[in-house]
Amino acid sequence: MSKRLQVDFAGLKLAHPLVAASAGTTKDAEHSFRAQEAGFSAVVLKSVQEELVNRYNPLPRFSIVKSGIPGYNSVSFLSYEQAFEGDIHDYAEMVRETRRRLSIPVIASINCIEYESWATYAKIVEQAGADAVEMVPSCPAGAFIRKGEEFTPIAANVLRAVKVKVKIPAGIKMTQQLSNPVACAVTLEQEGSHWVTMFNRNPGLHIDIETMSAIMHRSACGHGGPWVALAITRWVAHAYPHLKIPISATGGVTRWEDVIRYLLAGAANVQIASLIYMKGYDVVKEMLGSIEGYLDRMGIESIQNLIGRAVSELQPLEAVDRSCRYLAVVTHRCVNCGKCKNICLYDAIDFKGETPSINPDLCDGCGLCEQICGGAILMKRIVPQN
Ligand SMILES: Cc1cc2nc3c(=O)[nH]c(=O)nc-3n(C[C@H](O)[C@H](O)[C@H](O)COP(=O)(O)O)c2cc1C
Repeated sequence: MSKRLQVDFAGLKLAHPLVAASAGTTKDAEHSFRAQEAGFSAVVLKSVQEELVNRYNPLPRFSIVKSGIPGYNSVSFLSYEQAFEGDIHDYAEMVRETRRRLSIPVIASINCIEYESWATYAKIVEQAGADAVEMVPSCPAGAFIRKGEEFTPIAANVLRAVKVKVKIPAGIKMTQQLSNPVACAVTLEQEGSHWVTMFNRNPGLHIDIETMSAIMHRSACGHGGPWVALAITRWVAHAYPHLKIPISATGGVTRWEDVIRYLLAGAANVQIASLIYMKGYDVVKEMLGSIEGYLDRMGIESIQNLIGRAVSELQPLEAVDRSCRYLAVVTHRCVNCGKCKNICLYDAIDFKGETPSINPDLCDGCGLCEQICGGAILMKRIVPQN
């Protein structure tokens, strides 16, 4: 593995930023070993939960929902998956075995109800050999989220309880169910979190209109898909300038480009789960090759140089250019399909002739027709006259 992909993460040296996230795909030493052999740089083990009901999975527990506008792809991966199927002592045994078999960093994941239990669980996984511990009050099936409790004070209390007990790096996996995730991340840094993971999955509900009831045990369940990455990228980019601790981004990675985007937004590593479920562990191999290819193509020496690079480019509302005008132009590639006319809100597209013509007096320059068209309409920039 080339050194240029290495990243530092909360005191852990990772060979590259692609980490196997906490899920059934890291539920024991054998599966974590598979993640390592496929090429992941670290594993976050499946979470252990204090709450008993969360140790028993209902079956079946997966659903892939394809939805959205015909002609466009949209997929959501739904899971009613609960925690590690054992108590903290079984979990410690699993951590020990995983640590023994793997050479990459092993991050334990815990989720409790009582603050003393958070401290006890963290101590036990530390003693079992975990290199770090991720704390997950954000679990979509967990007590806090189910009851809709205020996340930030709970996470801060968890940190206070755990930090006095363990020496290994300890970070919080945040929920996105917050009005201001940046403020939450800043508070968690102040409370001593060694990193923040943005974000756990949100609970979602999918209703079958034939049965008129919700699928997945008629319950809200964890859900995500490629569409979730945009919101997470936004929060990562907005949190990055306010934090000294690293951000681990997780959610919606389906392609190597998503990993690059998270790094450019400020993430120090990227955790992946659903893609492993849907495609197998080897997805990481192909991604790493493509990421190295990207670095070559862009002339970038080290992947560290990507982290946060897009953030300084972000513009506040007031700074966005509103002076340039644009005009839609139909090119010779037009096949007269009529899609553009159907969607023009300005009635600027006339279909009387052979090919559509644009009325420059009516065209707003909004760019929607260019997006809907298969490549025959281009937007021409009109430089403002003084
Ligand atoms: C089936 C499944 C089980 C999961 N179990 C856990 C878990 O036990 N603990 C946890 O912190 N996150 C859990 N997650 C969340 C993942 O760790 C990950 O953060 C999230 O799925 C977003 O990444 P993705 O879009 O690549 O799946 C689970 C995700 C899935 C799909």
